[in-house]
Amino acid sequence: MQKPVAFFFLLLAGVHANSLVLEKRNGPPPGFSHVGPTPLDQTLNLRLALTQNNIAGLQDTVYDISTPGNARYGQYLTQDEVNKFVAPSGETLSQVNSWLAAYGIASSPLTPAGDWISVNMSVSQANEMFMAEFSTFQNQDTNETVVRTLSYSVPIALEAMISWVHPTVKFVAQFLGSNLRADSGKISFPVVKKPSVLNLTSKTVSKRASTNTSVSADCRANASWTPACLQELYGIPSTPAQPAANSFGVSGFQNGFANERDLKQFLETYRPDMNPNTTFDLITLDGGINNQLPADAGIFEGADIQYAIGLTTGVPVTFISTGTLPDDLFTEMLDQAQFLVSMENPPQTIVNGNQGTLETQVSSQFAISLCNAYAQLAARGVSYIVNVGEGCTPGAVDPPFPATCPFVTAVGATDFGPGDTEETANEASQGGFSDLFKRPEYQDAAVSGYLESTGNTNSTTFNVTGRAVPDVAAIGLVDFVWEGQVIDFLDGLSVQVFASIVALLTNERIAAGKPGLGFLNPLIYQNPQAFTDIKTGNNAACFEVVFNSTAGWDPITGFGSPIYPALQEITSKL
Ligand SMILES: *[C@@H]1O[C@H](CO)[C@@H](O)[C@H](O)[C@H]1NC(C)=O
Ligand SMILES: *[C@@H]1O[C@H](CO)[C@@H](O)[C@H](O)[C@H]1NC(C)=O
Ligand SMILES: *[C@@H]1O[C@H](CO)[C@@H](O)[C@H](O)[C@H]1NC(C)=O
Ligand SMILES: *[C@@H]1O[C@H](CO)[C@@H](O)[C@H](O)[C@H]1NC(C)=O
Ligand SMILES: *[C@@H]1O[C@H](CO)[C@@H](O)[C@H](O)[C@H]1NC(C)=O
Ligand SMILES: *[C@@H]1O[C@H](CO)[C@@H](O)[C@H](O)[C@H]1NC(C)=O
Ligand SMILES: *[C@@H]1O[C@H](CO)[C@@H](O)[C@H](O)[C@H]1NC(C)=O
Ligand SMILES: *[C@@H]1O[C@H](CO)[C@@H](O)[C@H](O)[C@H]1NC(C)=O
Ligand SMILES: *[C@@H]1O[C@H](CO)[C@@H](O)[C@H](O)[C@H]1NC(C)=O
Repeated sequence: MQKPVAFFFLLLAGVHANSLVLEKRNGPPPGFSHVGPTPLDQTLNLRLALTQNNIAGLQDTVYDISTPGNARYGQYLTQDEVNKFVAPSGETLSQVNSWLAAYGIASSPLTPAGDWISVNMSVSQANEMFMAEFSTFQNQDTNETVVRTLSYSVPIALEAMISWVHPTVKFVAQFLGSNLRADSGKISFPVVKKPSVLNLTSKTVSKRASTNTSVSADCRANASWTPACLQELYGIPSTPAQPAANSFGVSGFQNGFANERDLKQFLETYRPDMNPNTTFDLITLDGGINNQLPADAGIFEGADIQYAIGLTTGVPVTFISTGTLPDDLFTEMLDQAQFLVSMENPPQTIVNGNQGTLETQVSSQFAISLCNAYAQLAARGVSYIVNVGEGCTPGAVDPPFPATCPFVTAVGATDFGPGDTEETANEASQGGFSDLFKRPEYQDAAVSGYLESTGNTNSTTFNVTGRAVPDVAAIGLVDFVWEGQVIDFLDGLSVQVFASIVALLTNERIAAGKPGLGFLNPLIYQNPQAFTDIKTGNNAACFEVVFNSTAGWDPITGFGSPIYPALQEITSKL
């Protein structure tokens, strides 16, 4: 092993010519003001992401084990097998630890693979070691302060070994427009042209004359969907699922809690055929809890749990509550993924209904780290299902993140109103093309087909080479119970509806002694016939790039909405 003696001498002598800027920004983002320097003796808890030794090998493996027809299909990896791909090399560990030790700093691993480490140091040490200027900034909306730096460096000799350091230049994630998925009151949003969270106490959906469709007029009467109506629309069984050792994980972030009394009332109202005492397990991390005070019931977490349980009829459901890290939703997501990867038996299906953000609003290093964590979950055989987001983002040409990560399944939203004869794209559903992740092979044919048929092959408005989202879609507007009241309209549940179908299919496979469905996209793109193609509508509500729903895959509804019996036919034979 190389001993970087000379190099340490230079550092300790305070010579920084051998440093390289890893990340920087010109100033704090809008909404934050500089308060002043942080006291030099204040302790910082920093996380260092160390370079994983073979992430490309992990990604190749994920595609093999997730592609029906591949000899390795369904052969998911153990935690140890995943760790071999993502652990830093011995060289990386020894060099980084020697560097830290030269400053008298100890590290502790945050993941079993040791690819994330935690270090505590004073502001003065951090300023010196990272050539940074840690300062205090205030969020003008909440008055909360955070310690950040506008730039940081690492020694050139460690450049290939340290991917990034957190928290440094990343401030609060800036959410999408009306952010349906952030709990109201905690975060303030940019200008919203057209709110897509409907006034929960009044019916704002106009009733048109009911016409004709295969789904009963009763279900379309209110344009808002209940479990019974979704069962009718997608052919979802209402019979109890067979007992099987599996679990459907529902994510909670940012202190959004799933309320048990609301769940019970929901089941009594909408699933009178089920035991209203049906409940869920709890996984917590980062000090997460599931507070049951009625006033703390989360709108989305509550609705997510209600649909997870109300649509899967007996599949074991687990609420995964990640404790709040101030201003740091995406680190919560990263912690959640890392935590789940290291479980011996992670839930086979996981839904993350959070709206996420725009891809340009997260640093690319961070986005890649989070996406690599989702690739690890895929390697473990987890179906990780996310929202493309519904809500207006004035002027946005950016695609939504984490939906653009190629290792998650992204769900767009549809509507089926009283006067409609078929589902149509929800006008506030997001979609688009990544600038960060290139188009994965599994969607090559579908996306090129779309680009060619719409004459967009050479579009300069969006990045035709990027990973395109969403993959599929489902009804977004549902009925639910919140703080003891039955509420008619909640937009943003499409992801939960789709994930519940995946959880049911997974339960069936596990009951039959087979592995779960794992990373779904290769299977989805092989089987467009298992989806109802949505051919009408667009996302014109407030977007700069208007995508139209077209025949075949499109960047607003993907392949369309699920047909349960068709999916069951496919997944039961694999
Ligand atoms: C850093 O400090 C936190 C408490 O603030 C502690 O939990 C953690 O173990 C410390 N890490 C190291 C590497 O000492
Ligand atoms: C922030 O501080 C200002 C000035 O003290 C005060 O007027 C405002 O109400 C505070 N805002 C919040 C959200 O606490
Ligand atoms: C919602 O609608 C009700 C009934 O029309 C109205 O009284 C209330 O002010 C509205 N709330 C909001 C936030 O617009
Ligand atoms: C109603 O549905 C039937 C069967 O799909 C179809 O033949 C008929 O044309 C539809 N009527 C209207 C008014 O759309
Ligand atoms: C539609 O809404 C009305 C009024 O809230 C309610 O009575 C009725 O049950 C709803 N219909 C369906 C099918 O949900
Ligand atoms: C649900 O729980 C309540 C209270 O423990 C009990 O009285 C009731 O019988 C239970 N219902 C069913 C269907 O098990
Ligand atoms: C387009 O996406 C690719 C990844 O597929 C990326 O390398 C490229 O930088 C993107 N172009 C722009 C203009 O962002
Ligand atoms: C797109 O660009 C390619 C290469 O520049 C060119 O051959 C092709 O004709 C263009 N297609 C369209 C539809 O403009
Ligand atoms: C959507 O359709 C409109 C109207 O036909 C058209 O102007 C627009 O270019 C289409 N958008 C895309 C991305 O194809």
